Amino acid sequence: MDSNIINDLFNFLVIHYMESKAEEKLMRRFNYSFIETHLQEHRRLIENFTALKEDAEKGISGPLYLSFRTQLLLFDWFSGHIAKADRHMGRFIIAESFIKPKSCL
Ligand SMILES: [Fe+2]
Repeated sequence: MDSNIINDLFNFLVIHYMESKAEEKLMRRFNYSFIETHLQEHRRLIENFTALKEDAEKGISGPLYLSFRTQLLLFDWFSGHIAKADRHMGRFIIAESFIKPKSCL
């Protein structure tokens, strides 16, 4: 795995989680009770990918190691955060939408 792929992934994650803050805005709009824990998981993903990106740029680790580490990070993210935390947030927002409809949804 070359560092360009890791850079592209990293840039996507930074834009999605740190710059657009789409999820954060949604959670704040609905006063999601677990927002701080949720955002901490976003920050941890960026920190882990930052370390991976720096490792790739330094050329210390080989492509096989970087590939496994990338897959592990993404698998953890999909199975841990997206499948659990994001799903929980989604259900909360759907339930809140029925209780307190927002005009711009
Ligand atoms: Fe999330």
